[in-house]
Amino acid sequence: MFIPKHIAIIMDGNGRWAKRRGLARYKGHIEGAKIIKPIVLHCNEIGVEVLTVFALSTENWNRPKLEVKALVKLIENYLNNMDEYLKYGVKIKFLGDLSIFSNYMQNKILQVEEKFSKNKGMTFAIALNYGAKDEIKNAFKKILLKFENKELNKEEITEKLISENLYTKTFPMVDLLIRPGGEFRISNFLLWQAAYAEFVFLEDVLWPDFKPEHIDFAVSEYSKRNRRYGKIS
Ligand code: FPP
Repeated sequence: MFIPKHIAIIMDGNGRWAKRRGLARYKGHIEGAKIIKPIVLHCNEIGVEVLTVFALSTENWNRPKLEVKALVKLIENYLNNMDEYLKYGVKIKFLGDLSIFSNYMQNKILQVEEKFSKNKGMTFAIALNYGAKDEIKNAFKKILLKFENKELNKEEITEKLISENLYTKTFPMVDLLIRPGGEFRISNFLLWQAAYAEFVFLEDVLWPDFKPEHIDFAVSEYSKRNRRYGKIS
């Protein structure tokens, strides 16, 4: 079995999970949040280097106010309870435009990252107010500023430089992207980083029903793929 260095997950299907039970959509997010930990621990155990989960997109703000409020509250509670990860040795990182959040939340995020920064295990990355197009636009702005300040010239604008100006600058490229929930799209998640990712779409699983076994299934599918990177063998 080949273990991907970087797994990314689009945690889709919370709303439908709740609706099927006659519950408000946000209840699906609450259930969805509960099952993140076993997935993180499993990925850490099998030797994944980075696990990135899509928790809130730049587009999710357009959902009904009640759902958005509940999601932000849920994320805030999650941040306040991250100490439960301490004994597993994982590092924790956040990616996205975090400036949209309250000062309280931004400080909390910094504190969590700092608290886990010396750990040596897997990096558990949570994408918040994340949009890949927004991330690439921000990288453009940062690079342009350096160019204007004469800190770099045109020839120094390389793929490596662009990668280094993304939120994921220290992460390997995404090897495996998993999406439960029955949609077959990338939804503005890690567009640059997933350039050569293998995709596993789980049609019959909604995120709140996702189990470590689904990681094993996706990894076994990934192991069967012939990754050619545009070459012929
Ligand atoms: C997509 O399902 C899921 C989201 C927009 C949010 C994902 C958030 C969590 C799993 C919990 C919060 C995260 C943390 C880190 C505490 P959907 O609502 O689009 O589902 P649907 O397609 O069935 O409507």
